[in-house]
Amino acid sequence: MFVPVERVAPGILPAADLASLDPVIDAAIAAAHGRLAGIVPPGEWDLMAPTIARIQQLKRERNAVILAHNYQTPDIFHGVADITGDSLALARTAEGTDADVIVLCGVHFMAETAKLLNPDKTVLIPDLKAGCSLSESITAADVRMMRARYPGVPVVTYVNTSAEVKAETDVCCTSSNAVEVVESLGAERVIFLPDQFLARWVATQTNVQIIAWHGACEVHDRFTAGEIQLLREQYPGIQVVAHPECPPDVLEAADFVGSTAGMIAHVREARPAQVALITECSMSDNVAAELPDVQFIRPCNLCPHMKRITLGKVLRSLETMTFEVTIAPDIAVRARRAVERMLEVGRGRGG
Ligand code: 13P
Ligand code: SF4
Repeated sequence: MFVPVERVAPGILPAADLASLDPVIDAAIAAAHGRLAGIVPPGEWDLMAPTIARIQQLKRERNAVILAHNYQTPDIFHGVADITGDSLALARTAEGTDADVIVLCGVHFMAETAKLLNPDKTVLIPDLKAGCSLSESITAADVRMMRARYPGVPVVTYVNTSAEVKAETDVCCTSSNAVEVVESLGAERVIFLPDQFLARWVATQTNVQIIAWHGACEVHDRFTAGEIQLLREQYPGIQVVAHPECPPDVLEAADFVGSTAGMIAHVREARPAQVALITECSMSDNVAAELPDVQFIRPCNLCPHMKRITLGKVLRSLETMTFEVTIAPDIAVRARRAVERMLEVGRGRGG
């Protein structure tokens, strides 16, 4: 038992509930403590432990699974998540889970994707306002307008979009399979929506002609090539690893470009002495816990939408079974097809 009862904050968790923990839950708490020990000071662990304990208990009671994106804070990522990963990994896991309830710790489009793939399950997001600037940059009417402008050209849509937008498109992609999805269509040209920088990066990796939209991620858009140059001057030999939502000059200045999972895999394998992950800054905190021999230099841009999800809100979500994600059936049928086509592309090569 890791939870000191006398330190339970009033109103967070009654001591009686702690006493009722079973060995499976105790083991989950011990594992969370082990993972978080190197990241958070002991005082912080004491504060978060009662909430983590209660969440573990509720997960069992409700047969719930917690999916957390790589940008979630360490208390969620290491403390309560069952599955962590990039958008593609979360979609794949959502497709295969046998839980009754999915709590998606990420942003709204990720929860919608989970719901599309699990229409009969309850999908919860701890804060309904956790949006995404890319998702906000385009509407279903915009997609129809692009189709009218480029008749017969297939539409590939980044998963960072609403279900309404997905419903208008041929196939979805994530940053980790974008090139593969584009090439799978066998077309000379594709319309690629809505991230202009991801579109430009894909265009550098393929001969397919890319017609882009003007969306951008408010977090990655802020990184500059000047920052990368400064990092290299300050830390000679540093590895610079960037997400493809960054502007082109940042990507050109990077040593490696990949999805959040691709970035993590690269650092795990390359084990550079010093690395800068040019992406949302919680990811460095999460990976640093696992790689003590790597020094993470952290130019810090936070995603305000991802940061709406807190440990306290995850607890409330499971206690009150809110906020349930729903999608109108006529939209869901078409949007699901675009997501499933994306997953088929991965399966085609055994992925
Ligand atoms: P990944 O699919 O690479 O995790 O990216 C999702 C995202 O929102 C990046 O900003
Ligand atoms: Fe959207 Fe950017 Fe936040 Fe990712 S980091 S969820 S793309 S706003």
